[in-house]
Amino acid sequence: MNQVKLINGVELPQIGLGTWQITDRSQMVEVVSNAYDVGYRLFDTAAAYSNEIALSKAITEKGIAREAYILSDKVWNTSRGYRAVQEACHKSLKKFKTDYFDLYLIHWPASMKLYPDWEEINEDTWRGMEQLYKDGLAKAIGVCNFKIHHLESLKKTAEIMPMVDQVELHPGLNQNELLEYCKVNDIVVEASSPLGNGQILNNENLQMIAENKKKTVAQVCLRWGLQKGSILIPKTTNVGRMQENFDIFNFSLDKKEMDAIDKISYCGGIGIDSDEVEEFG
Ligand SMILES: NC(=O)c1ccc[n+]([C@@H]2O[C@H](COP(=O)([O-])OP(=O)(O)OC[C@H]3O[C@@H](n4cnc5c(N)ncnc54)[C@H](OP(=O)(O)O)[C@@H]3O)[C@@H](O)[C@H]2O)c1
Repeated sequence: MNQVKLINGVELPQIGLGTWQITDRSQMVEVVSNAYDVGYRLFDTAAAYSNEIALSKAITEKGIAREAYILSDKVWNTSRGYRAVQEACHKSLKKFKTDYFDLYLIHWPASMKLYPDWEEINEDTWRGMEQLYKDGLAKAIGVCNFKIHHLESLKKTAEIMPMVDQVELHPGLNQNELLEYCKVNDIVVEASSPLGNGQILNNENLQMIAENKKKTVAQVCLRWGLQKGSILIPKTTNVGRMQENFDIFNFSLDKKEMDAIDKISYCGGIGIDSDEVEEFG
């Protein structure tokens, strides 16, 4: 399986499993067991998903050694700031009965709509993230939903720049400008909702390309994201779809196909603008 190397040398698998909206404990046990058997090694969760304990128990039940999987977690918006982010990380680590995350991310930047001092808030939270990294509690640190101006703002005070930016990226939302910026700045882009939360799979242009390739639309979406160099974390609870989503390393899209997919306009997804967001619960 393809690995992506971060600026600090940490390697992450290019495909992992998203776990948002999986909260049922017995379902999580089945999902993790199947995913591991298929070959998934990266599990993406967040404090806000209310499934850290379920995921932790499922991993334990499967008997996976700590070094045999990659655990990625996120700090929620209610824990911004130097101290709060560290406290939140400790709390989450306890739930997993582990002493480190492979990747720890800020879930959302402070919204400029709500906070005139959004830059200071993000800087202060990021200082806490840097501390977690220095203390070895996170092998790699990063952000989610940060646009270029959020990253440029962090640059003014950051000692260590984010190693990963997890953002909504799928056909219909190509994020080409951010991808270019991140490439220049050694930040790996991780695609959240790489299938547009399941809402883009009926797109006719994608269906045509998939038919030509004798692949499924989901595989075409993921292959497109893979060729853009991003890490992908599709979510599914279905073992057949897990296999389908993982089986994207034996074909490629040519330039014409990549360009055609790049041109698809927004046709579904989460669609939350991190500058506009009022606040979540
Ligand atoms: N940082 C952030 O702010 C943020 C935001 C959104 C998501 N994320 C992360 O990204 C992960 C993935 O995003 P997502 O959960 O929004 O959606 P997604 O992975 O884009 O799509 C998931 C949806 O597509 C369906 N699906 C999966 N594989 C399929 C296939 N091969 N064929 C047909 N349908 C398929 C799933 O249903 P079934 O389960 O029934 O298969 C589910 O309804 C999340 O779980 C989370 O870890 C992060």
